[in-house]
Amino acid sequence: GVFSYDGIRIGQGYDIHQIKVHTEGEDELNIQNGGSTKNEFAAQHGGKDNSEFDAQHGVNCAHELAIHKEGYALKWVKKNTCEQNFKILTIGGVKIKNIFVRSHSDGDIIYHSIVDSILGALGSLDIGTLFPDKEQNYQNKNSASFLRYVRLLLHKKKYAIANIDVNVIAEIPKIYPIRHTIIKNISSLLQIDESQINIKGKTHEKLGVIGEKKAVECFANDCNYSYST
Ligand code: CDP
Ligand code: ZN
Repeated sequence: GVFSYDGIRIGQGYDIHQIKVHTEGEDELNIQNGGSTKNEFAAQHGGKDNSEFDAQHGVNCAHELAIHKEGYALKWVKKNTCEQNFKILTIGGVKIKNIFVRSHSDGDIIYHSIVDSILGALGSLDIGTLFPDKEQNYQNKNSASFLRYVRLLLHKKKYAIANIDVNVIAEIPKIYPIRHTIIKNISSLLQIDESQINIKGKTHEKLGVIGEKKAVECFANDCNYSYST
């Protein structure tokens, strides 16, 4: 238009994903019952082995099972990752071994909400429109690539990040112990200083789906400034 605004711009992002928590009790039970082998699994599923299943359902069973080989019941993991499209929770780029997330991409609520907050600030649609759920390309995609994408978009529009503030609402995992790792991940992906990023966690006081550990959610705010003039 005639007037184009190039001052400070803020954006908000939100994301929620369903989770399943793998409890110790279940572990022991499944270990006692013996985890089924890859062949048994294939037989149960009409001859499909994990890799065929992966391709059809956009999961990476081999990877999930490899991580869970020691001390975890393969049976439980197979049931929940391979059959129900749950995968090991990644949050702010940190993998949480005993929590599974249902999602099309890697289901990283922190990365997704930050991407949406930056897109919002830039007035550039949203993550679901730019990277549609239905496309095979984005299945299991490491959400780091979405962050790299918005970094380029910021640069193209001559905007720089002032600061990012994130609120994770989750009973588990506790964010505080992994907060610095998450900040380092985001700092290196977006090429901003760690001091420009704040990450905090909050429980939902055991109320509702978050309180019952059936979901985790995240809010992000992003503030950008223009360097065009
Ligand atoms: O005390 P208040 O009700 O405000 O907060 P809370 O939900 O009980 O959480 C207490 C503290 O635990 C928070 O201030 C965070 O430092 C930490 N927390 C966390 O690190 N990760 C979570 N998922 C939840 C809480
Ligand atoms: Zn998401």
